[in-house]
Amino acid sequence: MKGKTMTREMGRSFLKDDIRLEVDWRSTPQACGAPPPTIQKPAPKGAELIRLPSAEQWHIAPCNLMDAMARRESHRSFRKASLPLNELSFLLWATQGVRARLHEAAVLRTVPSAGCRHPFETYIAALNIKDLPPAIYRYLPLEHALIQERTPKNLAASLAAAAHGQDFAGQAAATFIWTALPARTEWRYAEASYKVIALDAGHVCQNLYLACEAINAGTCAIAAYNQDLMDALLGIVGEDEFTVYLAPVGKI
Ligand SMILES: Cc1cc2nc3c(=O)[nH]c(=O)nc-3n(C[C@H](O)[C@H](O)[C@H](O)COP(=O)(O)O)c2cc1C
Repeated sequence: MKGKTMTREMGRSFLKDDIRLEVDWRSTPQACGAPPPTIQKPAPKGAELIRLPSAEQWHIAPCNLMDAMARRESHRSFRKASLPLNELSFLLWATQGVRARLHEAAVLRTVPSAGCRHPFETYIAALNIKDLPPAIYRYLPLEHALIQERTPKNLAASLAAAAHGQDFAGQAAATFIWTALPARTEWRYAEASYKVIALDAGHVCQNLYLACEAINAGTCAIAAYNQDLMDALLGIVGEDEFTVYLAPVGKI
């Protein structure tokens, strides 16, 4: 179903929680004993893991949370400076980093998530990261590592085109692209999953805004993009996993 078939009534209903009363809670995958979906998309066999600097190696000056909240704003133009790998590591930790492993099928992260389902994967379109060749990478929170996914030609121009001509998506040092894998949340919440997935995404991007304040960087949430072009850029089919949100990051 493409967006044009959504009515105003359906959209407003999506924002409400009446759906919870309609779900047959005895027939959710979890209630039926199905195993939970994996915490992260597995790395392809033989993929080289690019280990990210650990917290002890970040050397980022402490940043007052109240100052960060007061200063936070959307940035759509960036200096041409590269982003060091330790700072990218910090931003990935801030947005999806694992802070505790509960058991084989669940982790706690730096952001909250309904039912602790954490339905996102994080892709990094690296345009100007020190010591990282331009390419599309995917973050593996369990290993705190990256894998290279794709090396599209004309990455900057493709990003801008896929973001409906918002050129700053290709002018950043790195553009964060979050995909959702709804099955992770559907396993517990069935049809009541979709609103909470959208809410979850907001927390992720807000942490990115705040973390950017600690490293003289800026970001801007982007929800306006071409679904097919963005999914194609990531090399995903757009059914069980699809783009939901992006945020270019650069030095300001
Ligand atoms: C869900 C969401 C989607 C957004 N999408 C876009 C976008 O596609 N393009 C853009 O330039 N800004 C986008 N923004 C940024 C808003 O325009 C910005 O937050 C707003 O103007 C307030 O400015 P501030 O963030 O500096 O306070 C988005 C923000 C949010 C929270």
